Amino acid sequence: MALMPRPLSNGEAREIRGFLKEAGFVHDTFRHSAWLRELPKNAADLDYMIDRTSAAGALNVLVRLFFLGAPQDAETVTGQIPAGVLCALEQSGIIRRTGAEIVPNVMLTPCDDLVFAADSPARMRAGDSEDLVLWPNPTSRLLQAFTAGTPSGMVLDLGSGCGILGILAAPRSRHVTATDLNPRAGEFTRFNAWLNGAGNIETLTGDTFTPVAGRKFDLIMANPPFFITPGSSQMYCENNMDLDLYCRRVVRETPGYLNEGGYFQALVEWVQVKGQRWQDRIAEWVEGSGCDAWLVRSYARDAAAYAEERIQTTWPGHRSSIRFSDWMDYYRQRGVEEVHGGILALRRRSGENWLRMDEQPVDSTGEFGDLVPRTFATQDILSEHPGDDRLLAAKPRLPKEARLEQVARASGGRWAVESLKLQLTGPVPATMALDQAVAGFLGRCDGNRSLGELVSELSAQVKAPYDAVREQCCGAVRKLAERRLLHLER
Ligand SMILES: C[S@@+](CC[C@H](N)C(=O)[O-])C[C@H]1O[C@@H](n2cnc3c(N)ncnc32)[C@H](O)[C@@H]1O
Repeated sequence: MALMPRPLSNGEAREIRGFLKEAGFVHDTFRHSAWLRELPKNAADLDYMIDRTSAAGALNVLVRLFFLGAPQDAETVTGQIPAGVLCALEQSGIIRRTGAEIVPNVMLTPCDDLVFAADSPARMRAGDSEDLVLWPNPTSRLLQAFTAGTPSGMVLDLGSGCGILGILAAPRSRHVTATDLNPRAGEFTRFNAWLNGAGNIETLTGDTFTPVAGRKFDLIMANPPFFITPGSSQMYCENNMDLDLYCRRVVRETPGYLNEGGYFQALVEWVQVKGQRWQDRIAEWVEGSGCDAWLVRSYARDAAAYAEERIQTTWPGHRSSIRFSDWMDYYRQRGVEEVHGGILALRRRSGENWLRMDEQPVDSTGEFGDLVPRTFATQDILSEHPGDDRLLAAKPRLPKEARLEQVARASGGRWAVESLKLQLTGPVPATMALDQAVAGFLGRCDGNRSLGELVSELSAQVKAPYDAVREQCCGAVRKLAERRLLHLER
């Protein structure tokens, strides 16, 4: 059983945080140092990183202890870390002394202005840690960015792990409930809430929604154990249901825990089996849920490529003891051809619900801002299938991430425009070719005027009949909004 860290006083948490910040053990250092972005994959990587951190200095000692998980000579550590901080680190169980060495019990990862403790990489490499609590990894960061612009209030962090999602959401939430099947996850979440001074968080242990039976939330965030594997021994990424049925279960049970207007946002994987389209499974998951749904399918792998990738990530130190053919038999017997993955957002809403599915690689380092609520607001209007008269009441707004790209060629002594393309940058990009007239019109779509007002202005300016301008503008606006290149507001 690995040692668990324990909260001390708020003053000691402040002291630890303050020292880590002062030493530069912060998010920006990791973001701007390419060699610190990934954990060492093998002994050679580790050797390289140990060498990169050989100069004297507090930051190097902290990186070695808490990122590389490498024990350090006590004399070196006491030369760099003030006695009070060292004492708090030791008493809270973040480190321990073993002979003349200081040994890290946990990994520390800075995220934004906070820092999170989780199990050490050595525990993962050992491969026998069924109750491993994973550090904030790219999937955690993707879901955190995806949910950051969603109205919160009462928040549920389902499968909280080290607590990263709930703790980062805490300052903009009334209350956060973090649940996990793994009791060690609850302990880490409580510890990290203490370390980061977050007071409005409760932790509960149990299966899926069992610990919150009868309660409702405004935002449910879930980065579930979605790997589709023949086994179920790694709680942080595997589950004991067949194929993708655990993700389905979470999606089917979620509406019962959402307030009207509340969102569920999750990362999911699902299979495409022989005779089905990839869309069919998701459509069945959300059918009759009482929720609107937006799915972005961001990757797909054939069964063999998926198995190879997951065996590498789930069992890094035990590659040779896993039989690839066992995994393939599991998929073949169930007719699995491909595995798909993406981000899913549901919003509980009475009335006729819509389902929107996009196919687009997602930039996991991008900032979503309020993309989710804006996409839902636009889709609400589009799904009402409004005739032009109703569409004219909507206020179109060009997203601030939109860029117009013009390609011109020199011809006859001047530049001749060859093409115009509207591009949406950001985590879920989009693009569409335009003509000059539509591009000019779009520049006026600032969300302050209704489409009707914009059409009147334009028809007066170009001296064209109102009905002809209206027909063209409504057609263009509809097409752009369907591709998320224009937002519609009421
Ligand atoms: C992929 S990790 C996500 C952790 C954290 N939310 C993050 O994003 O880094 C999945 C989490 O779900 C938890 N879990 C697995 N099965 C569960 C279940 N049946 N009910 C609740 N939590 C579960 C695991 O213990 C793990 O902490």
